[in-house]
Amino acid sequence: MTAGAGADETQSGRSGFRTAVVPAAGLGTRFLPATKTVPKELLPVVDTPGIELVAAEAAESGADRLVIVTSPGKDGVVAHFVEDLVLESTLAERGKFHLLEKVRKAPGLLNVSSVVQEEPLGLGHAVAQAEAVLDPGEDAIAVLLPDDLVLPCGVLEEMGRVRREHGGTVLCAIDVPKDEVSAYGVFDVAPVDGGADPNVLRVNGMVEKPAMADAPSTYAAAGRYLLDRAVFDALRRIEPGAGGELQLTDAIGLLIADGHPVHVVVHRGSRHDLGNPGGYLRAAVDFALERDEYGPALREWLTRRLAPDWNPQLTTS
Ligand code: UTP
Repeated sequence: MTAGAGADETQSGRSGFRTAVVPAAGLGTRFLPATKTVPKELLPVVDTPGIELVAAEAAESGADRLVIVTSPGKDGVVAHFVEDLVLESTLAERGKFHLLEKVRKAPGLLNVSSVVQEEPLGLGHAVAQAEAVLDPGEDAIAVLLPDDLVLPCGVLEEMGRVRREHGGTVLCAIDVPKDEVSAYGVFDVAPVDGGADPNVLRVNGMVEKPAMADAPSTYAAAGRYLLDRAVFDALRRIEPGAGGELQLTDAIGLLIADGHPVHVVVHRGSRHDLGNPGGYLRAAVDFALERDEYGPALREWLTRRLAPDWNPQLTTS
C-alpha cells in the first residue's frame, strides 16, 4: 500500500538516508483496553496522532519515504496518511480551511508505504521486514519508534552528521537520572578518540534494564536509530532473546562484536514516552499547554486542581 507525496527514487536524504522505518506492529498491551481496536500509534497527542508527529520529524530530517511496519488488521495506521477526498471536499464546501489544512498535512509529508509483520516477534523482527522494500543503493535507514517523542526535532540530522564522520551505525541516547536506569536499555560507552564533542560517544555494548549498581552509564536508549544496512545481515543471525522476541539490540550487539562502528548521540532536549498511559498523559498536557486554544484554560484548571483547597463539587471541568 502506498500513499503520499512524490519523491526522487534514487537520492539519499540530506541526513544520509531516505527511508524512515516506523515499527507499529506491536500489541500495545500497556494501553489495553483502548488498543483492542484502536492502534496506539493513532492515539492523539492533543489532536494529532503520535505517528504523524514522528512522520513529520522524519520528513524534517530529510527522509522522503516512510515505511510503516504494521500487523494484520492495523490498516488504520497507514490509512491516516492517505488522502480522504470526500472529507476534504466537505471541509472545503463548509469553509473549514483550517481543518482542511490539518487533514492534508499527513498525506503531504512524505511517501508512505507499509510492510506487514505477521506476528509480533519483536522490534528486531519488525525492522527486518523493511529490507524487502529498500532500493539496492540505500546503505542506511532511520528507525523511529512512534512511542518516543524526541524534542526538539533535529537529532536524526545530528546522527547523520556522526555517521558521515565515523561511518557505521548511530544511536540516540538521553541522559537519565541514575535511579531511573532500570527502566531503560543503557549504553556502555567510551569517549571517541580525539573527539571534540562530549555528546558523541563510542558504544561498546548495551545492557537491558540493569540494576542501578550494574548500569554502565546513565545514557539510555531513545527510539531513534540510524542503522547501516549491515543490520539486516545481523538480524538474520540473532536468536530470539527476552520474551522469545528478536531484539534489535542483540543485532546491534553483533555489529559491535564484528568491529562495526557504533556511536551514540546524546540528545540534550526532552523526550516523551507515549507507550504507557502515564507518559502519554504527560505528553498530552505538555503539548496542550503550548497551544493557544487550550493552553491558558488548561493551565488555569491545573492550578485550581492542584491547589490544597481543591473542591471537586464546586468545579466543572
Ligand atoms: P513496545 O514494546 O514499546 O510496543 O515496542 P508494544 O509491544 O506495542 O507495547 P506493549 O509493551 O505491549 O505495551 C516498541 C515499538 O516497536 C513496535 C511497537 O509497535 C512499538 O512501536 N513493535 C514491537 C513491532 O512493530 N513489532 C513487535 O513485534 C514489537
